[in-house]
Amino acid sequence: MIDTTELLTENIHLADWTRALKPSALQESLMIASKPGIISLALGLPALEFFPKKAYAQAVERVLESDPRALQYGPPSESLKAQIADLMALRGVACKKEQVFLTAGAQQGMNLLSRLMLDRGGEVLMEEMAYTGFQQVIEPFQPNLLTVSTDLGTGIDVDAVEALLAGGARPAFIYVVTEGHNPLAVSMSAEKRVRLVELAREYHVPIMEDDAYGFLCYDSHSVPPMRSIEDQWVFYVGSFSKTLAPGLRVGWIIVPEWLITKLSVIKEATDINTSTFTQKTVSAYIDQGSFNDHIAFLRSEYKARRDAMLSALEDYYPAGVRWRVPSSGVFIWVELPDGTDTATLLRLAVEQEHVAFIPGNAFCADGSSKGGNCIRLNFSHSNGELIRKGILRLARVLKDVLA
Ligand SMILES: Cc1ncc(COP(=O)(O)O)c(C=O)c1O
Repeated sequence: MIDTTELLTENIHLADWTRALKPSALQESLMIASKPGIISLALGLPALEFFPKKAYAQAVERVLESDPRALQYGPPSESLKAQIADLMALRGVACKKEQVFLTAGAQQGMNLLSRLMLDRGGEVLMEEMAYTGFQQVIEPFQPNLLTVSTDLGTGIDVDAVEALLAGGARPAFIYVVTEGHNPLAVSMSAEKRVRLVELAREYHVPIMEDDAYGFLCYDSHSVPPMRSIEDQWVFYVGSFSKTLAPGLRVGWIIVPEWLITKLSVIKEATDINTSTFTQKTVSAYIDQGSFNDHIAFLRSEYKARRDAMLSALEDYYPAGVRWRVPSSGVFIWVELPDGTDTATLLRLAVEQEHVAFIPGNAFCADGSSKGGNCIRLNFSHSNGELIRKGILRLARVLKDVLA
């Protein structure tokens, strides 16, 4: 058989922006993490054992038995939108179900909003270290990135945002993760949330508030999202991925009502509609009444896993390694001594000790070497015992690399 790959590679025209595409560091990590025997502290995966399989199976059965349209094309589920509005009230956000737009996960929410607001070559204001999935969303637009730094204790540098806007920058939007920042694990301070909203209002620049981890807060006093103080300039992105199951691919955005029609057209062009079946089954699951308890259960279990990781770090890591206690989300951001080669660390960690993490530089939005001496560790996926083992193994490799 003739191998035509080379011929095709040379002759099929691909869009300009796709030419430099290669597997992302996260895709590579997924491959590594799925190898048998690897302790993965790499990706932000929920714990398999916490998926509420029984309750969800009951919901599936009920929907299939009672709703002949469950497997048909269909409009967004009105009941799910109303349930999301109720959930948002628990986070201090008042919204109407008419402002809720259902998506296939937070990722699609960001994608649709970008397609709504961002012109090709337009400007986006974001943090230097940012969720790679968002970076992938905006890549086809070949945007001009305006980046600002992030304080590990309080979040995005709002002074730098103000300086850019006061200097005349008018980005299509500001992208920010309010809770459990991915990768930096910081929760934005209440003061900064208020200030950023004031800037959005003053300069008429919308905020895309990615709150994928918003329901996984471990402090008793969590700060409400920015959407709770501003309903016109803050476009909220939410998800069931971290609280229910990412395989369902159900999320939502909350936007001013007048944008819903435009978003519906963009969404229809993308995937016609979010799976009718999963919308209905998620709605039926919530209707059974145990979702709030499930979220409380996840908070308590993930908090215990976070604490297991923190105490293992304390016990095994050498002086000069720094981290903070995250109050939300599923990551700990660890700063290693300056000059630590985290690429070599990862290679050795996987080969010698069968443990994986993500090197910090993978999240750098401006192509610089920022985060080069840092690593992102996940604490939601593995149980406390595995976490402790993984941290000990990583500490052994780290000692070798530092020596
Ligand atoms: C910050 C952030 N936003 C959005 C997403 C995407 O979530 P979803 O599964 O809802 O698309 C993730 C996934 O890990 C994330 O970390």
